[in-house]
Amino acid sequence: MNILITGVAGFIGSNLARELLTQRHSVAGIDNLSAGTRENVPAGVRLHVHDIRDESIAELFRGVDAVYHLAAKNCLTDCMNNPVETADINVRGTANVLECARRAGVKKFVYADSSAEYEGLQEFPSTVDHIAPEGIYASSKRGGALLCESYRKFFGMNVTILRYFNVYGPAQDFRRVIPPVMSAFILKMLNGEPPVIYGTGDKRRDYIYVDDVNRFQILTLTDTRTNGRTYNVGSGVSHSVKDVFRMIEDEMKTGLKPIHKPELPNDVDNTLADITRERALGWAPQVNIQEGIRRTIEYLKSKLHATRT
Ligand SMILES: NC(=O)c1ccc[n+]([C@@H]2O[C@H](COP(=O)([O-])OP(=O)(O)OC[C@H]3O[C@@H](n4cnc5c(N)ncnc54)[C@H](O)[C@@H]3O)[C@@H](O)[C@H]2O)c1
Repeated sequence: MNILITGVAGFIGSNLARELLTQRHSVAGIDNLSAGTRENVPAGVRLHVHDIRDESIAELFRGVDAVYHLAAKNCLTDCMNNPVETADINVRGTANVLECARRAGVKKFVYADSSAEYEGLQEFPSTVDHIAPEGIYASSKRGGALLCESYRKFFGMNVTILRYFNVYGPAQDFRRVIPPVMSAFILKMLNGEPPVIYGTGDKRRDYIYVDDVNRFQILTLTDTRTNGRTYNVGSGVSHSVKDVFRMIEDEMKTGLKPIHKPELPNDVDNTLADITRERALGWAPQVNIQEGIRRTIEYLKSKLHATRT
């Protein structure tokens, strides 16, 4: 299939592109490189450096069979500090991508939604039918998802919405002001520095390894049961930040102790996916957290080694 990925130079997009190429699909991508890097983009992907809000991207959708729309502003702190730009990229940008896809007659559209949709709820595990977005990031993802639903209802667009939980693994964006916890801990520890825990470390997250996410994303291309539906992409298990540190330390044996900083705003206590609906499709997470941590450590070690030599 001819596949177009927005956000292809980012974490999830670049991993997805690599897997699609392995499965012999033809892959093109759009990214403005605001967070992603050229280096992330696998050889064989046609990278178009554009902003998703730019109307001129329409021509890139010609002959495309499926679109994965992953480009977004998604660092929570950054979104809180820049609400207008967040809405512009995540809502208006999504509208532009949807409209380009509709005009080009794209057969499948996959939208990257987020577990942040559940942030105002205290019922766990989270099921897809109950949501309560509160923060700027979550509201902007909801805005994009609502547009997807309108395009499905009024234009017959074949949309699948995926709510990712804490995805981790190679190519995670660790250069952010507040980097995602897993890669941030490992990198600090590889550099011999203590990792930073915001708050007590008791906050729990549902971590899912990027290869498992890839398998679910690719399933949506072929399994027609996913058409028009919304899914949780999580592991169905949660771990505290303290536990994650301990698991990494068990592997790395650095002797380092974390330092604690004040809690971050808009940082929920818990995330946990109900994955009954996803298991019913025959999908299940295959990489447990210890194995995922080992693989992420190996990747980051090789990256550090490459930059030092
Ligand atoms: N990683 C997670 O745990 C997670 C969890 C929930 C939801 N998501 C969603 O999944 C998607 C991918 O996340 P990720 O972790 O790969 O993020 P990422 O930041 O690594 O990748 C996003 C990519 O989009 C690009 N981008 C941003 N604004 C753009 C614009 N205006 N035009 C063109 N490109 C632009 C960035 O340069 C980057 O390469 C996002 O939509 C995010 O909201 C991710």
